[in-house]
Amino acid sequence: MIVKVGFVGTGGIANWHLEHLSKIEGIKITSLCDIKREKAEATAKKYGGRVYTDYEKMLEEEKLDALYVCLPPFAHKNVEILAAEKGIHLFIEKPIGLSLKKVKEVESQILKNKIITSIGYQRRYQESTNKIKSLLKENEPGLFMGYWMGGMPQVSWWRRKEMSGGQIIEQTTHIFDLARFFFGEVEKVFAIGRKGLMKEVENYNIEDASAVTLLFKNGLMGTIYSACFLSCGGMVGMTIYFKDMSVRYDGGLQIIKSKEVRKIDFNDDPGVLEDQIFIEAVKTKNSSRIKSTYSDALKTLALTLAAEESIKTGKVINLK
Ligand SMILES: NC(=O)c1ccc[n+]([C@@H]2O[C@H](COP(=O)([O-])OP(=O)(O)OC[C@H]3O[C@@H](n4cnc5c(N)ncnc54)[C@H](O)[C@@H]3O)[C@@H](O)[C@H]2O)c1
Repeated sequence: MIVKVGFVGTGGIANWHLEHLSKIEGIKITSLCDIKREKAEATAKKYGGRVYTDYEKMLEEEKLDALYVCLPPFAHKNVEILAAEKGIHLFIEKPIGLSLKKVKEVESQILKNKIITSIGYQRRYQESTNKIKSLLKENEPGLFMGYWMGGMPQVSWWRRKEMSGGQIIEQTTHIFDLARFFFGEVEKVFAIGRKGLMKEVENYNIEDASAVTLLFKNGLMGTIYSACFLSCGGMVGMTIYFKDMSVRYDGGLQIIKSKEVRKIDFNDDPGVLEDQIFIEAVKTKNSSRIKSTYSDALKTLALTLAAEESIKTGKVINLK
């Protein structure tokens, strides 16, 4: 079977996936859609495919097996619902949207039409995160600290809350998702944020920094920090504290136990793996190796939206 693949959105992340797909056998990129025609045309020159500027027209005219949705958070509109109604399997970049009501409507179409979904939380495919998962089977954590400390991404939509959702929803979502992947579901959220530090950046209305404290159903607690004001490097990852061990994840791992420090580097490529696994699932109709589905990513979105609500209201949010 040749899997016919289309893309909506041909920006940074779309080209990352296309590079992976170009190395996988049995795929044809048949169509690319971007509201900026020149971006879709430049991408088509490299990877092939007919060019569209309207995804409704593309879904009407093309017979696709799979669609990659690589849109900014505000721009998803009805693309997933239209594709699901046509039986097209979906790879969707995180975050899956900005409104819980809307993503629940999408979820019901996905489930109704038995659509295979994979969401771009590629950290779930890393060898390091899977090593942490197996450590957690035998060791009870006491506390953790997650962090995404960096600078402000260059894409203009990122700095507007109504377009990106802000750093927690758009970027640190990877760390919130890992926290769920490792520790299960969250019961309570309390968050604070600060604004107004980056006087040199025009037209931004998101937090410069935030701290989100989580209480999990299993009793574990932790705080996830975000910052987007740094111009001097940063750090992304998580440190988990056990009674006799600490595990620091930053892509690789550092494990400290009985004063012995062990560093483990990994050479795996989780981005390639998530694309391979999605395409394999579309070919075989067996999605058991997919580690992030639409329904699961919906829970990560709900968690990050709860953090936003807590910042806005100053209240502790109880998750259902
Ligand atoms: N998994 C990851 O590590 C990762 C990394 C980067 C980005 N992302 C996610 O990918 C998504 C896209 O990010 P990006 O960095 O590629 O952004 P981008 O701005 O580089 O690309 C988005 C593209 O979508 C196009 N677009 C906007 N509205 C459209 C519409 N209605 N129809 C067709 N095209 C439209 C834009 O013109 C642009 O070319 C975001 O949700 C982001 O969070 C994920």
